[in-house]
Amino acid sequence: MLKAVPGTNDIFAQAKEYPFREPVFRYIISTAEEVLRGAGAQMVYTPIFEYLEVFQKGVGLTSDIVVKKEMFVFEDRGGRLLALRPEPTAAIVRAFNEHGMKVWPQPVRLFTWGPIFRGERQQKGRYKQFHQVDYEALGLSDPLLDAEAIALMVRIYKTLGLRNLEVKLGSVGDPEDRVRYNQYLRELFGPYASDLSEDSRVRVEANPMRILDSKSERDQALIAELQPKPMLEFLGPAAQKFHEQVCNYLDRLGVAYTVDPSLVRGLDYYVRTAWEVHHAGIGAKSALGGGGRYDGLSEMLGGPPLPGVGFGIGVERLAIALEQEGVALPADPSPTLYLAPLDEAAKIEVLALAEQLRPKIHVEIGYTPKSPRKALEDALKKGARYVGFIGEAERARGVVTLKHLETGEQRALEPLQLHSLFEGPELK
Ligand code: HAM
Repeated sequence: MLKAVPGTNDIFAQAKEYPFREPVFRYIISTAEEVLRGAGAQMVYTPIFEYLEVFQKGVGLTSDIVVKKEMFVFEDRGGRLLALRPEPTAAIVRAFNEHGMKVWPQPVRLFTWGPIFRGERQQKGRYKQFHQVDYEALGLSDPLLDAEAIALMVRIYKTLGLRNLEVKLGSVGDPEDRVRYNQYLRELFGPYASDLSEDSRVRVEANPMRILDSKSERDQALIAELQPKPMLEFLGPAAQKFHEQVCNYLDRLGVAYTVDPSLVRGLDYYVRTAWEVHHAGIGAKSALGGGGRYDGLSEMLGGPPLPGVGFGIGVERLAIALEQEGVALPADPSPTLYLAPLDEAAKIEVLALAEQLRPKIHVEIGYTPKSPRKALEDALKKGARYVGFIGEAERARGVVTLKHLETGEQRALEPLQLHSLFEGPELK
């Protein structure tokens, strides 16, 4: 029997593991959507695959996604390379430029949600196909937008009921600041290259900042020994001022954060503001979500200058955090009425009645004729409030036997009485 690829998951209500339960997904996505629409963001769905260059140029040639070949790449019939999206931001910037959104009132706030693909080694909270809610504010380079994005992200987590969050805020400076910082790190780590992990040895030349972000114990030991100065000490005056403004705005908004002077993000396109949200339940090495500013990204994709800032929220990791905090989900909209035929001839009667009642209430019908006892059992499993039967006796009298599952009260009702019952205040 064929099975799903490890690192991919089926999402449905009864899934064994909490992060893959559909009601949890729905709760997260509908809450995020409400918060983001409430701030003027509009939904955009970009394709789940793009020309490889969109992501290669976007996330950067020195990011793990590109270096460790984490992208799922395939060829179309014409021999062009395509990739499943390893993140949505580059695709959204591509769409912004392609559809001339520059002439809309700026900033343009967009959001999306959907599957993301990274060929990472699978572990708890790390999958090959996972889901993100993503928000982007494009068109302006104003620290106020960064503060707003962080506030919106925190609002999503809090609205969901999450409490133990930590927002780690840093700045990766302007490109020229990073050139100076990388040079400093190269000189610091260069003589110790042989003590580094294999991955990080390559990073010394290509992108030494990523060494700081390494998950290897070897690298972390060396970092602890060498105590590199943090990025924040290398900010030029413009990036420094920008960072201070973001902090001031967050203070004014009452959004709690801690400044992490050596915050490093996994994607190359960031400039200035970068942040991550952490949660004890996910472990210190993995973030619940992350974001930042990417003012140069559009040019990397061959577009005009286009500043932007945004964030991505990992849906599965967020679900794990919600489970850890014991956050209760809103009640599932279960069928209000479970209608069952007791014999073959009642099947169409049951469907016809369901079709009449459906605009008003949720009705699920049982297809195979069954005994009243079995119908009752099924109705309980479905979480219905009422169970109704139609059999020979009911057909003869033109009624439905209706039982309230909680009170046990049972009555024979004519269709008109049913209509008025379900119009009553009890069900609204
Ligand atoms: P990212 O930090 O690479 O940022 O991913 C955002 C979030 O996706 C992570 O914090 C994590 O919750 C989740 N995530 C990442 N990889 C995995 C995985 N293998 N399995 C499960 N969850 C994962 C971005 O993708 C940027 N596009 C965010 C952004 C938007 N920056 C600006 N705008």
